Amino acid sequence: MDEIGTSLTIARMQDPASTPPRSIRSFVKRGGRTTLAQDRALTELWPRFGIEPGTMPLDLTLVFGRDAPCVLEIGFGDGEALVARAAAEPERNFLGLEVHPPGVGHCLLIAEAAQLTNLRVLSQDAVEVLGTRLADACLDEALIWFPDPWPKKRHHKRRLLNPSFATLLASRMRSGATLRFASDWAHYASEALEVLSASTDFHNTVPGGGYADRPSERVLTKFERRGLRLGHAVFDLKFRRR
Ligand SMILES: C[S@@+](CC[C@H](N)C(=O)[O-])C[C@H]1O[C@@H](n2cnc3c(N)ncnc32)[C@H](O)[C@@H]1O
Repeated sequence: MDEIGTSLTIARMQDPASTPPRSIRSFVKRGGRTTLAQDRALTELWPRFGIEPGTMPLDLTLVFGRDAPCVLEIGFGDGEALVARAAAEPERNFLGLEVHPPGVGHCLLIAEAAQLTNLRVLSQDAVEVLGTRLADACLDEALIWFPDPWPKKRHHKRRLLNPSFATLLASRMRSGATLRFASDWAHYASEALEVLSASTDFHNTVPGGGYADRPSERVLTKFERRGLRLGHAVFDLKFRRR
């Protein structure tokens, strides 16, 4: 680095106001060990189900080896709901996003047990994937089950579903595609309802607006079970891309 470059770098390090703001993410890297079986899955099954993180745009026909409607699940946790849907609907492609390695490992194990050929997973921030890797109008359905609730007021800005995320997600959904969301946190659910109802990209499929029925095809997810154990009500949303 030349002298000017060096002094600029030092000036930036000394002046926090000159540092570009770090983007606010909807997750923090959690601890949590992978089991031996999950480790094996992350190594041995990755070539079969995994997509490398990066910025390269994804051609979904190449990724899945066929052209079929694509369902995206964001933050699939341990993958139970995703794998159950993919097994029940072999005619559709399923793309799962999750940043927590033990969850990804678990998902790969149950995907292998179910002998799925219509599932691919990507361990990368959904905001990056939607922003850089997915083409416009490539999704037929998007699922967000029990996203991190960030219950403290000062953390609400970390919630995944906000107006700019809704606009980004909408751009990747084809007209008529469905967006489903569920939360056991009443405040987040009402905020999500407000965001999507105010969006010109979506309309609520529930006559008169409000919450939708629980979809029967969703197997109980880990966080849904946790919410129910805590006595929380579960709020579902079902919106359609205009
Ligand atoms: C509360 S858990 C719910 C998991 C699962 N859907 C369930 O219902 O059991 C939310 C998950 O979303 C993942 N997540 C949060 N933000 C994400 C993002 N921007 N991109 C991908 N995954 C994300 C977290 O790692 C976490 O596993």
